Amino acid sequence: MKKIGVLTSGGDAPGMNAAIRAVVKTAIANGIQPIGFIKGYNGILEKNYHVMDRESVSGIIHSGGTILKTARCMEFYEASYREKAFHNAKEIGLDGLVVIGGDGSYRGAGYLSELGLPCIGVPGTIDNDIASTEYTIGYDTAMNTVVECVDKLNDTCQSHERCSVVEVMGRHAGHIALNTGIATGAVQIITEEIPTPIDDVVENVKKIRESGKDHFIVIVSEGYGNPVEIATQIQEKTGIDSRATILGHVQRGGNPTLKDRVNATRMGYYAVKLLEEGKTNRVVALQQGNLVDYDIQEALKMKKPLDMDLYNMMMEISF
Ligand code: F6P
Repeated sequence: MKKIGVLTSGGDAPGMNAAIRAVVKTAIANGIQPIGFIKGYNGILEKNYHVMDRESVSGIIHSGGTILKTARCMEFYEASYREKAFHNAKEIGLDGLVVIGGDGSYRGAGYLSELGLPCIGVPGTIDNDIASTEYTIGYDTAMNTVVECVDKLNDTCQSHERCSVVEVMGRHAGHIALNTGIATGAVQIITEEIPTPIDDVVENVKKIRESGKDHFIVIVSEGYGNPVEIATQIQEKTGIDSRATILGHVQRGGNPTLKDRVNATRMGYYAVKLLEEGKTNRVVALQQGNLVDYDIQEALKMKKPLDMDLYNMMMEISF
């Protein structure tokens, strides 16, 4: 194995830089030339890449975003573009590729593996919605960002005896909503998996107010519905002054936490080791704290339900 590529694809996530650094350093330590493709799969299609060395990953472990930039490459849905990418990779002399991203990025890695380029996927998304792994790079940092913001909202909610309806990211998954809901003492979380009707939310808020509480946090996962409408309904039906806040892309930025840096480093290192062992069409995953790997197609079929024990616990003590 002489030359491997690395790219980041899909939405960025804090910790991606730590993963890139680990891939590059592990490659160099094992006598392999690493190259970094710019803007995900577009970098292969356009032969837009940098030859990486120790210097190119110096001083990045602590920074958010991705030095390789990232994109969602629509062309990859077409076979002709995937063949072009494979052809370019061969011309560049690639012996393998590490793809850091979510499920969509894994699909691209699966296609290229099928064509004959050994590919390994590393889970990078704030949403933690990749079923094959219990943890994705960026999830911890994003949740800490949410907690920091909701703590601030909670201060002002207390002063004004208000209800704050906060929309968090997660695409179709409620993992961010559930865990940050617990961490901020929310009275209710609403997600696509648990699409609590608004009248039930209102009843719950009323009941909790009767028990003496005078300020409320409701966390809504972005897939569920409009937080402004939810806040309006709560205000109209309970009389509690309510405000909506959409946290948005602030959740995708910031310096990665220790957990994200360590896991990203472990995963990047492990991905290069898999390529060295001659593996292809695999994804790196964390299960019960240990690194494992799965076939890409097998990984894409897996399901990751929301943790209902956590949800039930939260609701039982949310008064
Ligand atoms: O997958 C990460 C994520 O931030 C989701 O939580 C969100 O739904 C989506 O990306 C937003 O995408 P974009 O950055 O393209 O607006």
